[in-house]
Amino acid sequence: MSNTPRKILVTSALPYANGSIHLGHLLEHIQTDIWTRFQRMRGHQCFSVCADDAHGTPVMLKAQELGITPEQMVEQTRAEHHQDLLDFHVVYDNYYVTHSEENKQLCEEIYTRLNNAGYISKRTINQLFDPEKNMFLPDRFIKGTCPSCGAEDQNGDSCDVCSSTYSPTEVINPRSVVSGATPILKDSEHYFFDLPKFEAMLKDWLVSGALQEEIANKLQEWFEAGLQQWDISRDAPYFGFEIPGAPNKFFYVWVDAPVGYMASFKNYCNQHDIDFDSFWNADSDAELYHFIGKDITYFHCLFWPAILEGAGLRKPTGVNVHGFVTVNGAKMSKSSGTFIKGRTYLNHLNPEYLRYYFASKLSDGVTDIDLSFEDFAQKVNSDLVGKVVNIASRCAGFITKRFDGKLSSNIIDPELVAEFQQASETVATHFEKRQYNRAIREIMALADKANQFIDTQAPWVTIKEESKQQLTHDVCSLGINLFRILVVYLKPVLPKLAEQSEAFLNDSLEWQSAQNVLTNHEINKFKALMQRVDMDKINAIIEDSKESLGEPKKDKAKEKSTKKSPKKSGTPLEQDPIGETVSFDDFAKVDLRIAKIAKAEHVEGADKLLKLQLDLGGDTKQVFAGIKSAYQPEQLEGKLTVMVANLAPRKMRFGLSEGMVLAAGPGGDELWILEPHEGAQPGMKVK
Ligand code: 2FM
Ligand code: ZN
Repeated sequence: MSNTPRKILVTSALPYANGSIHLGHLLEHIQTDIWTRFQRMRGHQCFSVCADDAHGTPVMLKAQELGITPEQMVEQTRAEHHQDLLDFHVVYDNYYVTHSEENKQLCEEIYTRLNNAGYISKRTINQLFDPEKNMFLPDRFIKGTCPSCGAEDQNGDSCDVCSSTYSPTEVINPRSVVSGATPILKDSEHYFFDLPKFEAMLKDWLVSGALQEEIANKLQEWFEAGLQQWDISRDAPYFGFEIPGAPNKFFYVWVDAPVGYMASFKNYCNQHDIDFDSFWNADSDAELYHFIGKDITYFHCLFWPAILEGAGLRKPTGVNVHGFVTVNGAKMSKSSGTFIKGRTYLNHLNPEYLRYYFASKLSDGVTDIDLSFEDFAQKVNSDLVGKVVNIASRCAGFITKRFDGKLSSNIIDPELVAEFQQASETVATHFEKRQYNRAIREIMALADKANQFIDTQAPWVTIKEESKQQLTHDVCSLGINLFRILVVYLKPVLPKLAEQSEAFLNDSLEWQSAQNVLTNHEINKFKALMQRVDMDKINAIIEDSKESLGEPKKDKAKEKSTKKSPKKSGTPLEQDPIGETVSFDDFAKVDLRIAKIAKAEHVEGADKLLKLQLDLGGDTKQVFAGIKSAYQPEQLEGKLTVMVANLAPRKMRFGLSEGMVLAAGPGGDELWILEPHEGAQPGMKVK
């Protein structure tokens, strides 16, 4: 190991502030956290920062839906994300937010430098505009008929049916997802960053060792296709930072997001008296690594280094790209319960299982990582419980009960110890190169050896023989020491297990600790360090992650309180017990309106849903209602009913649902929509 401590700054991609942390995020945060913990154990100065990515149209619109300010929403989400990560033992020195004063100042400073250096230009472009909402529409907020195959209700830039990609202006019958209005084309002046000017610099950087081979090849392809000017501005209304000297023009979220890495670190430096500039100046002696998913390579490997260079700052030492997470061999999916949120996982399973499993699969490549639940359970049970923890549990009891809790002064098999110690640098190299899978293989091979040693010595047999007490003491003490070395190597991956082991061993573990052996050393009583994975818990996670009709399943605990009472056939008592109470203020927010069912139709592929067009006396809303078992569409057309008109729109598999109609009944064909008095008029508020 090199003796000179390195100065390192590490980042993970900043999660957007409008969704929950899921397994896909966790792969990256766990990968980063393992690397950071490893560097610190090796004695290096390693800082890690992250933040919530606060800006952009989706965040702005989601906050509007929720009826709160974007600032409020972002702060709530930031706190939730931070807690989720901490509960997976992912610890950043700072978990900040991009909507911060530090970030605003840094963005302005960097932009001003780029502008002064002549890297910014202006040009008028023509874009789809929502005339009702008075806003330009990003591609994902446009829907319509695919220009290639004619499939309806396709995205503004690509078709799920025929997979073709196109420009939003080519979409047939386009509509704004935000308001439903037909977008118009409108001119606007945009600001562009001159990426092509940086081609030569990027080509040099490409061969500097900063990139994995697959990524370097990808960059080559992009160079061949030709670099383009990058549009860095967005028009108001936009949740972001206004561009200096350009009223009502805002930095595109992808400008201030990576600057957010700097801002999070700056905020930390200010509080801890650390020299921020020494990490970011062009001549910095610090190393800078970004951990990211392959989908955001373009931003981190082209735009970001070019912006840094243009602003006279240092470039990343490495951009560490990983693949996506698949579950049981397929893309994570909400309907099959494999789109798993961190919190749902935490409700059922130990976070260290996931840390271990991801570590056992992660390499320095960009291939996708499959989480196969059978493999997951098998690996955790066999490696962690069956091999590693087993070593300690087989030896500790004898030490405590028969040898006063003290390890022997004799090392019975110095060669075996030496073999474990010599693995230190090999394992370290694997961690350093982010080949965690190789590190884990190496560690588990050692765990096998420790178990073989104990099997051969059979202390549970020798303990019964008077003449073999010393031997038993020596064997069990060696077992504990071998366990200890394995825990040193596993500590970056399993910090909690390491912490509990440190308490048991009465010791604190750094990487160097593997080079000593504990002799004549008192240990504490052994407590079970890890339980086997229970398949029922995995099934519960999947169950809790399934979404029906676009609604997440309730938590088990909540589900219990609202479960239907057992069917008492023929009685009128088949009601749900009253559920959780809501405050009057919360209830008062629900906007109930009389709606006329202008149109009702079947939805292809949906068992329970009817698609309704609801007339609110001027405004029309599309709602998918789960009432197909009780009504034929034609029975509904023309009827008046009551709807929740201010429910946040939800994107469902079949399209956008913009509210909910009220219905009552035990279910099946016994379900009735609420029908108001005939004099009611569409749009009237229900009091
Ligand atoms: O793709 C994403 O989830 C982005 N929010 C990542 C931003 S990383 C960075 F550049 F800040
Ligand atoms: Zn198509």
